[in-house]
Amino acid sequence: MNGLIFLALDDFLESQLGVDAWSEAMDSAGLEQQDFEPEYFYPDQVAVDLFNAVAKQLNLPLSEMLEKFGRHLVPGLVKMGQHMGIVKKSWRTLDILEHIQDPILISFSNKDEGILAPKIRVYRLKHSEIAIAYVSKRKLCHLLKGIVLGMGEYFSEPIMFKEKVCMHNNNAPLCRLTVYIDDPDMVHYVDINREFKIVHSKIEELTFYNQFSGIPIIHAGLVLQYGDKEVVIQAPREQLVAMEAEGKTYISLKHLPIGLKAMVKEVEVKQGYATLHEFFMTKGAVGQRFYKRITPKKRFAVTIDIDGASFSGKVQNISEGGVKISLQKPVNLDESVLFMPVALKFNLPLKWMQKGDTIELGPHKLSLEGNLLDIVDEENCLAVRIKFNTLTKHNLFVLDQYYQRYLEDAQPLINERLGVI
Ligand code: HEM
Repeated sequence: MNGLIFLALDDFLESQLGVDAWSEAMDSAGLEQQDFEPEYFYPDQVAVDLFNAVAKQLNLPLSEMLEKFGRHLVPGLVKMGQHMGIVKKSWRTLDILEHIQDPILISFSNKDEGILAPKIRVYRLKHSEIAIAYVSKRKLCHLLKGIVLGMGEYFSEPIMFKEKVCMHNNNAPLCRLTVYIDDPDMVHYVDINREFKIVHSKIEELTFYNQFSGIPIIHAGLVLQYGDKEVVIQAPREQLVAMEAEGKTYISLKHLPIGLKAMVKEVEVKQGYATLHEFFMTKGAVGQRFYKRITPKKRFAVTIDIDGASFSGKVQNISEGGVKISLQKPVNLDESVLFMPVALKFNLPLKWMQKGDTIELGPHKLSLEGNLLDIVDEENCLAVRIKFNTLTKHNLFVLDQYYQRYLEDAQPLINERLGVI
């Protein structure tokens, strides 16, 4: 472990028990008195012995001592990171976490000398939330939690975490946390007047997301009127039909990173408008969650390669953002592969595709790459969610064609409904 950690531990202990405490800790850990150097790496056992010795001196369980030490470390880590140019001045807790592996921890590794950075895999789920998978034989998750909470204090942010799996329980191979900014008012509250005033004054379009018979219906619309509680919008009739059927709609506004959900109060399909009320912020950007997602009527086969192993599954749903796949049990896959790169291959059951003047018949072979975002144990299968890496123009086109064919299939159903109105 990097000598910096020992220097910081010395500083921490001194802040708690005074100057003599460190040499006592060294004695009690059975180590010879020595000066640690920030540019050297020391055996992990030295760290283990010293952490235990310090915990004993402070009369704290090891977990509590590590958490306290983590909090103590923060101001020094932030300043050092900023000084080294690996932590930007504008970064706050979640931004620092987002860059923890690269460039932060990577700066302290040296492949040639076999010194590898600890693995803290992170995934920014949205602006106010980040998922972490910590895999380390050093099992220092309490230190991690201390640093995370300490960062929140340092930047005066209401940072909290939820721990889904901890390596200190049930021999789990990793810790899995989500760290979030705990400000429900900010996350869910919608100031209707303010948000729709912005849209209305700029005569900006907003986008509505609905589903009709399992098919996404997405169209732009306009704000006609707004008050403190209700908003009257104009949208294509197809969208209004889907809104009426669902009783709700999801909305994305250009100036908001997070999407809105609204309940439908009244729909006038013929006149082309609807009244919406009861607005909430959704958990993420609606555009990402709903964007052209298709739940195929017949699931199709896919193979995924993760960390050298290959798995066969079925596609539950797919969009330009990612895919949800079910793997038949038993399957040898666990959360230790979260956020790992994944390669996928499948034949997209696209009936036909318009390419320029020609028509290409499907199915269409696709090879894509992404990251494994989630593994959920469902009744008969293991469901994995994979977020695609940025798709090539061609692959985007193919997925769009798949969506278009689906939409065409849905059109008669929508027309039938419109005919009734
Ligand atoms: C939210 C931010 C951070 C968190 C949660 C965090 C967490 C951790 C954890 C859990 C470890 C031990 C990992 C293991 O060995 O298993 C670690 C190691 C370390 N961290 Fe951080 N850290 C953060 C920010 C920083 C920053 C900003 C710096 C430096 C500028 C830094 C420098 C180091 C160093 C030098 C090590 C020792 C690496 C080694 O010896 O292999 N960390 N960090």
